[in-house]
Amino acid sequence: MPDRGANGGRVLDRPPLDVLSSVVDYLRARVGARPSVDLDDPDVRLFLHVQGPKATLYRDLSGDALHKRGYRRHVGDAPLKETLAAALLRLSGWNRGTMLIDPMCGSGTIALEADLWARDVAPGLFRRFGFERHLDFDDVARRAYEDLRAECERMVRDEGPVILASDVDTRALSAARENARSARSAVRFFEQDARALAPKGFDGAVVTNPPYGERLEGGMAFFREMATAFAAMNGHTITVLAGTPMIEDALAGERALRETHKPHQVFNGAIECRVLRYRVPNRSEAADPVAPMPRGRA
Ligand SMILES: C[S@@+](CC[C@H](N)C(=O)[O-])C[C@H]1O[C@@H](n2cnc3c(N)ncnc32)[C@H](O)[C@@H]1O
Repeated sequence: MPDRGANGGRVLDRPPLDVLSSVVDYLRARVGARPSVDLDDPDVRLFLHVQGPKATLYRDLSGDALHKRGYRRHVGDAPLKETLAAALLRLSGWNRGTMLIDPMCGSGTIALEADLWARDVAPGLFRRFGFERHLDFDDVARRAYEDLRAECERMVRDEGPVILASDVDTRALSAARENARSARSAVRFFEQDARALAPKGFDGAVVTNPPYGERLEGGMAFFREMATAFAAMNGHTITVLAGTPMIEDALAGERALRETHKPHQVFNGAIECRVLRYRVPNRSEAADPVAPMPRGRA
């Protein structure tokens, strides 16, 4: 079966012959020779988009998909796209100064994106782009591009806030450490059950993406224990990417978790998820009778 594209269209792994020969004829007329193409690693990728009677031929300037930052060599079972992890961090309201913790880190995407963002690492710094292999990317353009990359390198700060990331899966932790090495990141990864999470300072941010579906062991009982651990994080904000309503239900059972924003809907691939945001007051605030925001699904 051929793959389906983002909008359900048919994706072919070889161009239809008449498109291929038109491109080849055009190039032979322009440069006097038939282009030789390595089908597994072409210098220039073309996309043909057909909708009704209209066909559009695109030249791909990006190369690998743009959500790929280039540092992630290894992934766990259910990795987040780097861009979704970055969006989650923006939604969390984290100020890039306090400690950040991901207690179910998998291959480390949230923690690494946090570190790169906090140290002003430009998102494309570890990757190459398709246009770099194009013939019309000439010396002038290449020099300007290399100057820009060098300027981005100069902006990177060596020191960032403390970022801690843990998981129970030692294979995922090895992948996360490898990814940290290629991102030149000092995030600290360690083995720990999320239910043993405890505050390490007076404030900070927990940002995480708990397991769900087939990967979840323990069901609702696990989420309740996780929620209890989160509720003990005095002075912290808690941001959770929830792939199942069970997570929201479990968190709603903890009085100490004060909802700060209405849940925000996002898609993790095809899975509809909700970004849930809470704050745990510190001890002196906890006595304050401010009512939490009303709960319930938006
Ligand atoms: C959805 S994945 C997280 C993926 C991660 N955000 C990434 O980009 O790779 C959920 C993670 O929770 C971990 N996990 C499951 N039960 C756990 C527990 N009791 N304590 C800590 N981590 C747990 C799994 O090993 C898995 O890596």
